Amino acid sequence: MNKNQQQPWHILGAGAIGCLWAHAMQQWQLDVTILTRNKQQHQQLQTQGIQLTDGKVTYTSRPASLYPGLGGAKISNLLVCTKAYATLSAVESWRKLLHPQANILLLQNGMGTAQALQTRLPKANIYCATTTDGAWRQGPWRVVRAGMGDTQIGTFSAHLSSHTAPAQIAHLLTLSAAHTNLLRLHWHADILTPIWHKLAINSVINALTAVYQINNGELIKHSQARPRLEQLCKETEDVMSRCHITPIPHGLLQQALRVLNQTADNQSSMLQDCLADRPTEIDAINGFIIQQGSLLHLPCAAHKQICDDLHQQYPRPS
Ligand code: PAF
Repeated sequence: MNKNQQQPWHILGAGAIGCLWAHAMQQWQLDVTILTRNKQQHQQLQTQGIQLTDGKVTYTSRPASLYPGLGGAKISNLLVCTKAYATLSAVESWRKLLHPQANILLLQNGMGTAQALQTRLPKANIYCATTTDGAWRQGPWRVVRAGMGDTQIGTFSAHLSSHTAPAQIAHLLTLSAAHTNLLRLHWHADILTPIWHKLAINSVINALTAVYQINNGELIKHSQARPRLEQLCKETEDVMSRCHITPIPHGLLQQALRVLNQTADNQSSMLQDCLADRPTEIDAINGFIIQQGSLLHLPCAAHKQICDDLHQQYPRPS
């Protein structure tokens, strides 16, 4: 694909991962625009640019940006990196510019958003991605790359083929293969499997560590949390099996214990969100398991209990 045939990309949700992608796309010389929340965010980005620290080096990139109401060209390729709970309203604020058949690539934790988005935008071409990239936000437009991971991308929309990437995404795969130091992107013909597997791990670790306020490693031997971990694993696996999802090799509990050992000193993302008084992703994680379970008449009692405990401990602002 030559440069004249390339359509621009827009990025919604410029947290750590969104900024990482904006930086990579600029390095790949793509036309990339960040959709900011408001004029102030837009001005701040235009003044300081994105600063990405990778090891000892800090790179500055200066992508274009827009804020709602400013107008602009139609959005044909949209990367969405917002938290799951913020996605629908964030996309809604750009609806006027969004091409009805836009390619929308969702890169976020949890599940349920792609379906909700497809219901609102039936003609949109929706793709999903899951990543093991590590990055964290040091401040506004300042991101630290914590670890190089892999990103699997695949088709969500039922009206699209799952075997081949569309031209715009195929182009990203080619660029990534030529510059593996930026993002390692891969096409996955069955993307729901890795997304479910990540969701399963998150569903048994994150809320528990937030309720007991413990690091990941402490969960392994915690007298109250450990039996709950085992029950959550069982319920998540029951739902997955009834949804015909490929099982996790060696079982969810073994995989969860492996992740807990590898990340023993870390605080889960949900514990961090709770301690910082931010909304959590529990609805798109445990809430999604409960919802799928209820469609299959599975009670998911341990998931319901952990949701209740979390909501009681960290009440949401009304
Ligand atoms: O969400 C997270 O924090 C992580 O994915 C993990 C490893 C499940 C818990 O730290």
